[in-house]
Amino acid sequence: MTNPEIKNPRAKHDFIGRTCSISAVGSYVPEKVLTNADLEKRIDTTDEWITTRTGIKERRIAADDEHTSDMAAHAAKRALERAEVDPADVDLIILATITPDMPFPATACLVQEKIGAHNAAAFDIEAACSGFVYALEIGQQFIMSRTYDTVLVIGAEKLSSIMDWEDRNTCVLFGDGAGAAVLQNRENSHGLLTACMGADGRKASILSQPGGGCLHPATAKTVSDRLHFLRMDGKDVFKSAVNAMATAAREALGRCELEIDRIKCIIPHQANMRILKAVGDRLGASEDQVFSNLERYGNTSAASVAIALDEAVEQGKVERGDLILLLVFGAGLTWGAAIIEW
Ligand code: COA
Repeated sequence: MTNPEIKNPRAKHDFIGRTCSISAVGSYVPEKVLTNADLEKRIDTTDEWITTRTGIKERRIAADDEHTSDMAAHAAKRALERAEVDPADVDLIILATITPDMPFPATACLVQEKIGAHNAAAFDIEAACSGFVYALEIGQQFIMSRTYDTVLVIGAEKLSSIMDWEDRNTCVLFGDGAGAAVLQNRENSHGLLTACMGADGRKASILSQPGGGCLHPATAKTVSDRLHFLRMDGKDVFKSAVNAMATAAREALGRCELEIDRIKCIIPHQANMRILKAVGDRLGASEDQVFSNLERYGNTSAASVAIALDEAVEQGKVERGDLILLLVFGAGLTWGAAIIEW
């Protein structure tokens, strides 16, 4: 029986007898480790600066011949194996990324081929570092509406391909990787209870990759002007991230009539240890509640909370029936908070 103590905001909709749960998760990070000491040799930075300002010690970098679709396929295969789902039974693949293999076709289609999910529809979404929560919520709609029974949601990034390796303000922060979740109806579980998402296009310019779209199509000049790399106003992003994640978290908790101490594990977007701490403090959460693997991977954008969720499950930090709060924030600006009964 579903837990009667949990108020499920979706129950007021006409979804009687249907819930959307995560059957299993999987993740993948490339083998190559780039440490702060390695970066000290390439740019004017120090391990001490990076550690104290961000909490990051190392990040993973994909091989030259390893692309977003390859990492996504590895993570997806792990999640499908654990969920005991044959790839041929996947109905839909939604892939969140800002570093697709190419502008089109969608990287989700390349993943479909790589994992043999030939019966699945497939598309990409782009909500930057918030992409995984946006994609979960989209996937959830297909399950709850009974359009599909099995949806594969993936967050995957090869951020090393858009880093300006001469810009110490940004290149120390990001890494590559992928995480995936299998969404299905599951009896006796509330599954994805709610997701509060938001955006603020007025702040689109504080975090962007200006070149490569129709605004600045690739030319020799856009390349020499370094428009194809990620650009960021770190201070503005920092403030906006803390405010947006704390506000979204409160809204999600309010919708479910939950206090923060009912949440077993808070999994925030792994951007910066100081952001994680500030959000945790604002929510009145204990340090034990807030999961972090930032030290080892840095910011992997859309893959970040997906990889962290997989590790939290692997490490036994959450068990079936526990409540999880996913918190994300990214370019757009975009943000989101999702509460899941695991
Ligand atoms: N190594 C050494 N010094 C560095 C450096 C690095 N890697 N990067 C920047 N600096 C320098 C700056 O040039 C600046 O020097 P100056 O005072 O001589 O001009 C100095 O450090 C302080 O920079 P500041 O911007 O004040 O640092 P900060 O405390 O704001 O920290 C960030 C910078 C990027 C770590 C921080 O703003 C941040 O984490 N922002 C959010 C980023 C983020 O999460 N983005 C992704 C969101 S999805």
